[in-house]
Amino acid sequence: MQHIYLTSTIKTEKYTELYHQLYHILNGESDTIARMATICAGIKEAFDFYWIGFYRVCGDELVVGPYIGTLGCLRIKKGKGVCGYCWQEGKTIIVKNVEEFPGHIACSEVSKSEIVVPVFDKNHQIIAVLDIDSEVYSMFDEEDKLGLEKIVGLVSNTTI
Ligand code: SME
Repeated sequence: MQHIYLTSTIKTEKYTELYHQLYHILNGESDTIARMATICAGIKEAFDFYWIGFYRVCGDELVVGPYIGTLGCLRIKKGKGVCGYCWQEGKTIIVKNVEEFPGHIACSEVSKSEIVVPVFDKNHQIIAVLDIDSEVYSMFDEEDKLGLEKIVGLVSNTTI
């Protein structure tokens, strides 16, 4: 059985350790869903956030993909909610208080803050977003952004 083993308690170092371990675990795996599911599980082991999951770009909607947490909504239109806004803008969105984000889609009342990170393929096309929710306000900052942007690069990086 494989586990994520982190030696550091410093957030940026935790992200670096997690990245390297996921890199090796995913080595040679060509299936995108398997890679997304494993990345979710790895982040959950490392950080224990409330909800961690991917929404995949399918036509003109995002459709839920692999996730860990309570039931998420199934489909999100472009521009809607934090996830749809991330897709529209093609950049990471940090929401420190979900109640203050116009149009936030509340899948769970427990969620207080959120980060959504775009996932690109090798041709720089956006193929998904990674959505992470926390039960705590202001959970996510620039360090999470940088750490997670590197980790979602592993979704499309199959030639390792
Ligand atoms: N809060 C997200 C919707 C997805 S759930 O949080 C799992 C949003 O506003 O896009």
